[in-house]
Amino acid sequence: DKKITIAIDGFSSTGKSTVAKRLARELGYVYVDTGAMYRAVTLYMMRKLFVSEDNFDEEAIIRHLPFVSLRFEFNEDLGYGEMYLNNENVEKEIRYMEVSKQVSKVSAVSKVRRMLVEQQQEMGKNKGVVMDGRDIGTVVFPDAELKLFMTASTEQRAKRRFDELKDRGDDINYDEVLENVKERDYIDSTRDDSPLIKADDAIEIDNSDLGLDEQFEKVLKIAQDKI
Ligand code: C5P
Repeated sequence: DKKITIAIDGFSSTGKSTVAKRLARELGYVYVDTGAMYRAVTLYMMRKLFVSEDNFDEEAIIRHLPFVSLRFEFNEDLGYGEMYLNNENVEKEIRYMEVSKQVSKVSAVSKVRRMLVEQQQEMGKNKGVVMDGRDIGTVVFPDAELKLFMTASTEQRAKRRFDELKDRGDDINYDEVLENVKERDYIDSTRDDSPLIKADDAIEIDNSDLGLDEQFEKVLKIAQDKI
């Protein structure tokens, strides 16, 4: 079998990572969650520079970037790599709502993108990778053999995110999650640098009405046809 690059893009909480992880496991590929990388940079800037609703200093963020070191460490039990920020496991913390509220602003900074895209290209250089994010098929791997673009209704996505966070025991309400999903979609698709758009050659998967298994089977079949 030849190894390929699989790029999965789409709006927030479309179930990209669920499909990507499962696909990677099935194919014996590496899974890279690029959202986790943007979230980890954001967490670092929140801690160092107190980035918040009314405190955002792009120059300061750029100055602090060289001190951010990221890596994924494979967790046997979970079956995927957890995010480490300067050698600290931040896998849980990066999913908190506080980080979700700041991440799209930090992700719109070109220098942040340039650094992370370079690392992502390095991680995927030997192919055999499933990478999910917003600009994987358009910017990170424009030559990927398979590009998927996942969509689902805004309400469904907010519901999915809400259930995920609730399951983890977070104290949040649905409206707050819906608001955040909408805000991130807006910022992500209107930013100047690498806005979220469907690549011309991406296959669109609307999973509003697909169950997890159905969706996975569909994607697996598309992938196997390419390999
Ligand atoms: O995938 P996830 O929802 O965890 O991503 C969090 C945020 O990181 C997105 O809303 C977006 O602002 C940013 N992101 C990005 N480019 C990527 C992946 C994520 O700008 N490739």
